[in-house]
Amino acid sequence: MKPIQVGLLGIGVVGAGTFSVLKRNQEEIQRRAGRGIAITMVADLDVARAKSIVGNGVTVVGDARTVIANPDIDIVIELIGGFGVAKTLVLEAIASGKHVVTANKALLAVHGTEIFAAASAKGVMVAFEAAVAGGIPIIKALREGLTANRIQWIAGIINGTTNFILSEMRDKGLDFGVVLKEAQRLGYAEADPTFDIEGVDAAHKATIMSALAFGIPVQFDKAYIEGITKLGAADIKYAEQLGYRIKLLGITKRRKADAAAKTREGIELRVHPSLIPAKRLIANVEGAMNAVVVQGDAVGTTLYYGKGAGAEPTASAVIADLVDITRLHTADAAQRVPHLAFQPHTLDDAMSALPVLPMGEIVTSYYLRLRVADEAGVLAKVTGILANAGISIDAVLQREADEVGGEGATQTDLIILTHDCVEAKMNDALALMQALPTVLEPITRIRKEELA
Ligand code: HSE
Repeated sequence: MKPIQVGLLGIGVVGAGTFSVLKRNQEEIQRRAGRGIAITMVADLDVARAKSIVGNGVTVVGDARTVIANPDIDIVIELIGGFGVAKTLVLEAIASGKHVVTANKALLAVHGTEIFAAASAKGVMVAFEAAVAGGIPIIKALREGLTANRIQWIAGIINGTTNFILSEMRDKGLDFGVVLKEAQRLGYAEADPTFDIEGVDAAHKATIMSALAFGIPVQFDKAYIEGITKLGAADIKYAEQLGYRIKLLGITKRRKADAAAKTREGIELRVHPSLIPAKRLIANVEGAMNAVVVQGDAVGTTLYYGKGAGAEPTASAVIADLVDITRLHTADAAQRVPHLAFQPHTLDDAMSALPVLPMGEIVTSYYLRLRVADEAGVLAKVTGILANAGISIDAVLQREADEVGGEGATQTDLIILTHDCVEAKMNDALALMQALPTVLEPITRIRKEELA
């Protein structure tokens, strides 16, 4: 049988990695897929560079539409990124009856509903293993391996750049800005790192996982996003003293209604720095590595770890999708694995209508750091506000003033860990604490996840 024909749109680091892995492992890949897989066309604005990567035997063009228009092409790989031209080309490829493989998390998190609907109507597959956590097969795990489970929550380190920065901050006791510059110099952070450090990239990935886990539509616009730019070395140090590490987590959780707490049933979807117990395996994921913890009611806790970016790890995911499509493209569309794990017609039912909860309705525990005047009664006032709000304290750490500000200092840091409470309650308590004349600087609040 002739190999399945693949057209590649955009040949950068991942495209080149896909070429070399396909070539190196072609025999085993063919035995697994049941048929050869050949990238026969590449479209890239830099035709000369693309030709130098792919060599002879592959047609290189400057216009992606030439690939989409070619009737011999069965699968289009989109590695352009973003949701401008990439969206148009993916929709055009689908309209032309091509299956699509994409690593484009932003596109799917924002426009997934439209893209998957178009693909289902046309009877083609859109595969996206590379879109979340690079080489880690987390899409496969959520969509197939864990299909027996009612998934309760997912928490992931799903951005390597920020994990690298946080690891360096902890190791070297440095502040964010210093480490970011070093990460850029070493190539771990992009020249414009905004999407990574502000948590947007992680939120794209968390949004996709949330849809796969809970059978809801992708709703990036409802995700709460807070990056790592305001974290200081002091908080990382205090967290460590209390037995915690700070990680940027993408979290999505199913939450039951709680009449006493005045919260609705719904889904939490949030990205923010989180304290996690240092003894958890995921707390020890260092450098640019990624890891995702999934809690299912039957399986319990499972952990997936690996490289979340890079040429060959991402190529590993892209090629896995090519193999899946090669195996399944002749099957009846109804027999294939649904794009978002749940059969599309169930996306109209009550479960899919579960709201993504606003942050005021989420429930978590907290780390608070207050710079206070070192005088009698300060701690009592602060804990009194928390007690009045019904927020239970888990631990308090107060540094000696001269440890914080040097000899003779009159200010100190008061660190409080709380038990779980509704975020709206914590916001009210924070406003009251902030208004105390003895609280001298903006209070630092970092959410805490036990991940038990
Ligand atoms: N920029 C991402 C990261 C990889 O740092 O993990 C691609 O999503």
